[in-house]
Amino acid sequence: MSKILKVSRRTLLSGAAGAATLAVTPRLFSPAIAQNAPLKVGLMLPYTGTFAKLGQFIDNGFELYYQQKGLKLGGREVQFIKVDDESKPEAATDNMNRLVGREKVDVVVGTVHSGVAMAMVKVARDTKTMLIIPNAGANDATGALCAPNVFRTSFSNWQATFPAGKVMFDAGIKNVVTITWRYTAGAEMISGFSENFTKSGGKIVEDLTLPFPEVEFQALITRIATLKPDAVFSFFAGGGAVKFVKDYAAAGLNKTIPLYGAGFLTDGTIAAQGEAANGIKTTLHYADNLDNPANLAFLKAFKAKTGLDGDIYAVQGYDAAALFDIGLTAVGGDAKAQDKMIAAMGAAKIDSPRGPLSFNKAHNPIQNIYLREVRNGRNELVSIAQAAVDDPARGCKMA
Ligand code: PHB
Repeated sequence: MSKILKVSRRTLLSGAAGAATLAVTPRLFSPAIAQNAPLKVGLMLPYTGTFAKLGQFIDNGFELYYQQKGLKLGGREVQFIKVDDESKPEAATDNMNRLVGREKVDVVVGTVHSGVAMAMVKVARDTKTMLIIPNAGANDATGALCAPNVFRTSFSNWQATFPAGKVMFDAGIKNVVTITWRYTAGAEMISGFSENFTKSGGKIVEDLTLPFPEVEFQALITRIATLKPDAVFSFFAGGGAVKFVKDYAAAGLNKTIPLYGAGFLTDGTIAAQGEAANGIKTTLHYADNLDNPANLAFLKAFKAKTGLDGDIYAVQGYDAAALFDIGLTAVGGDAKAQDKMIAAMGAAKIDSPRGPLSFNKAHNPIQNIYLREVRNGRNELVSIAQAAVDDPARGCKMA
């Protein structure tokens, strides 16, 4: 059973009242006073498990933006309600219902895991709750299940890896073995890559998988050594990615079979991977050394706040706050004015640390996808793998 982590109220209601107490409080206000009540932001993220660090960085990125705005969003004070979703799809509907039904949040920001996110999207659609996805790439969230009140500040799984297919083929790679976890994000990231790689003329030799979030890679690494492809394409993230990259290097394969992947393989994980990550090439909508003023300012501010190096997860959290701030500002802080708020968010043009960020009709980012290489412990920019990539939003019919 997941738990509500903490309720922070930086403004109103100092003291230690629990979340349940607060849930009834807004009904006591008259409408005029309710305008002054804090905005309720539900953060539903993994704070434990293999994606724990990813969730924490999204949280830190969101908070950084809100601090830069003087502890306000759209001019409103903010109360955060945080839920640890543990990256467990089976608990996701209950967790989301608690934020929406009991806590009556104005917006939910979450999550990392595609399976959890799909359950959140369904509740958001049914209840018309604003949802901003700051990571999970499930294609359907801005595809077949797209909705006016659902936005994503991250990527679709297709979008993160499709450009890699052509980049790798153009680099002379003809045969690839893929490897990932057996769940939505793994399947969709491999499929995006494979679509473009085979269309370019490449061949997938074998698709290897293991259940999420297992990390017993040895048998699969032995299989790769036997198959001897020109390269490996992979999707792992968080703690699992750290272990996979280390195991791959420990087997000596990093010297003979180049390892590629979605950029999550080495983002947020690179420090823990150490030398084992050197030379890995990935595609992602971010690189550590993007030399634009927004990125330089972001990395400096993130370091000052946390003592840590920012990464894509922190950027996605930061941009989720920026997007909601734009929407709320357009309605003078009145989160109930949903249509107008959604219109402003859909039209937003954000000067993101990742580069220019805008949104397609399905509310998925249109953004550059970069080719990066790990050099000296950093995900360094090699080139733009594909500029202004727009997810096809297959099956999306906006209501
Ligand atoms: C996902 O499940 O959609 C997912 C998880 C971790 C990542 C990227 C995507 O780093």
